[in-house]
Amino acid sequence: MPPNPTPSDLAKFAAARRACRYVESGMKVGLGTGSTAAWLVRCLGRMVAEDGLRITGVPTSRQTADLARKAGIAITELDEAGALDLTIDGADEFDPGFALIKGGGGALLREKIVAAASDRMVVIADGDKDVATLGAFPLPVEVIPFGLETTRRHIARALAGADLAGADVALRMAGETPFVTDEGNRILDLHLGRIADPRALSDALNRIPGVVETGLFVDLCDTVVIGAADGRVTVRDRATGGETVDRVETAEAAALIA
Ligand code: A5P
Repeated sequence: MPPNPTPSDLAKFAAARRACRYVESGMKVGLGTGSTAAWLVRCLGRMVAEDGLRITGVPTSRQTADLARKAGIAITELDEAGALDLTIDGADEFDPGFALIKGGGGALLREKIVAAASDRMVVIADGDKDVATLGAFPLPVEVIPFGLETTRRHIARALAGADLAGADVALRMAGETPFVTDEGNRILDLHLGRIADPRALSDALNRIPGVVETGLFVDLCDTVVIGAADGRVTVRDRATGGETVDRVETAEAAALIA
């Protein structure tokens, strides 16, 4: 028997379900990675199966590609799709300026490429990701394996220049061996505590040879959809600065787990 959805599941479902309203037949849609994005894929799969929704999904990871196939969503490669109408993805943190930390699941590089190829990026999250200042969540940085320790030293130096001297820069592990991204790279998790200027830090890190990309997403997210376990959903829009609150029915979540 499938497990009952937890309060965290219900909050993620609520955000995902509400974000489905942005998806229309004929759209090319970037499909994010992570547990919240997985709810989105399940919801879209149900809409394809039962409501006649016709979309082409561009997954941001192998994991999401597998899930989308199982959900019955037609998928393609980014270069086949070209420009995307919309990307919907999770986040590890978002701030009042719509800057994000992403990459907790290790997919930040494809996520950023896909988001940047989209007319609109919608982030779906539960309220725990809503922060005044980014940085409590360790910042993932994707680096190439060659010269990893040298790159790590350069990162430490860049952090010192950004008043973040002494921050732990940890190689992400998957058990006994380093975590390997879909692109064959490694992830360094930067334990910063507080990121005063996300744009400046992102620029400084991206100047380091060996850094492929950072999990700081600045000027990419247009809308944040925040779900709560009782089905309440708050939507914030960057362009208008507006915030609306509505509600989705959460009973469907149990059926989608099944
Ligand atoms: C994947 O690499 C990440 O960017 C995820 O989008 C982020 O970690 C959020 O994941 P959850 O929805 O599982 O919290």
